[in-house]
Amino acid sequence: MARFGGKSMRYVGLDIGSSSVKSVELTRKGSGYELQSIAMEPLAQDVVVDGAIMDATSVSNAISAIFTENKIKSNDVVTSVSGHAVIVKRIAVAAASEEEVGNAVQYEAQQYIPFDMADVSMDYQVLGPAPTGNAMDVMLVAVKREKIQNLMHVLGLAGKTAAIVDIDAFALQNAYEANYDPAPEQMAALLNIGASIMNINIVRGGVPLFTRDVSVGGNQYTDTLQKELDLSYDDAEKLKQGQELPNVTAEARDTHIRSVSEILLLEIQKTFDFFRQTTSTDNIQAIYIGGGTAKIQGLADLLREEFSIPVEILNPFKKVTINPSRFDQAFTADVGARMSVAVGLALRSFDTP
Ligand SMILES: Nc1ncnc2c1ncn2[C@@H]1O[C@H](COP(=O)(O)OP(=O)(O)OP(=O)(O)O)[C@@H](O)[C@H]1O
Ligand SMILES: [Mg+2]
Repeated sequence: MARFGGKSMRYVGLDIGSSSVKSVELTRKGSGYELQSIAMEPLAQDVVVDGAIMDATSVSNAISAIFTENKIKSNDVVTSVSGHAVIVKRIAVAAASEEEVGNAVQYEAQQYIPFDMADVSMDYQVLGPAPTGNAMDVMLVAVKREKIQNLMHVLGLAGKTAAIVDIDAFALQNAYEANYDPAPEQMAALLNIGASIMNINIVRGGVPLFTRDVSVGGNQYTDTLQKELDLSYDDAEKLKQGQELPNVTAEARDTHIRSVSEILLLEIQKTFDFFRQTTSTDNIQAIYIGGGTAKIQGLADLLREEFSIPVEILNPFKKVTINPSRFDQAFTADVGARMSVAVGLALRSFDTP
């Protein structure tokens, strides 16, 4: 597993989520980028659960469909993982220089990783000197080996190779940085709210300070509407996305949607509180929301009211030229935030080695 490295070549950003597989290809254009391909292939329920691939064949079929239908030539992808089997932690490692970190990190990591070290793939990135003592701040990433093996297996079935395996929260950050050019001291909370997982990444400029994955997302809205209003899954999903149903009042819909938004809000509040206690007392100045659930009615407003800071739906195509003769503008605008991770992954093509 490597979040770094890789030659400059065009990788397909491939985001395997629990509701769908999403892909994006970019090329450079001026100081921004140009979209070369974009696709989304839905997955049935229970194919991917809480970030874990349960049905390898279905996922690999979805990947193959994306590549065939969009005539994508490259077989090299950048993909990512998140959820329970992923640990991302900022630690201070006793070391005088970046070179010394390598030796110390393996040893120090053990106390932070709740899995057997033999079962994990580990990587790290040096963030810079720690504020106190003879130490370096390091972002440690550990993923259960089994999770990576499953992913490789699925990609292999589809004839693809992963050049890089990233972390959802970092891909989100990549999309944010490339499109918003944050000032070095700008503190922001980046949220990726999908169907089953919410990734939270609190950043200062381009430096990740704190990340957390929470098992909440769009599924919870659908489940609640389904149960409380006695609807089919499909109807609950439609209602959630703004369609009207004959026997459901707007008040009933809004009440149930809001009750779930408050659960998400509580998780975000807890994360901010924990961040303040453990990491930094600097104020979070803005919130950017990516993922399909960013579009839930009233959620951005609720966060804006609660935290009294700007809250914006992340637009991963802010600096991406989308040729109207090649792409359906209505589709790209509609899926925008949902493609944040896929865009962040595709951007890895331009990493300097
Ligand atoms: N317009 C909309 N309004 C509200 N919810 C929406 C809308 N469009 C999509 N969603 C919801 O967004 C979720 C899918 O988002 P996304 O594609 O980011 O998730 P995922 O990557 O498949 O899942 P995860 O990362 O959690 O495994 C679904 O729950 C879907 O119902
Ligand atoms: Mg996702």
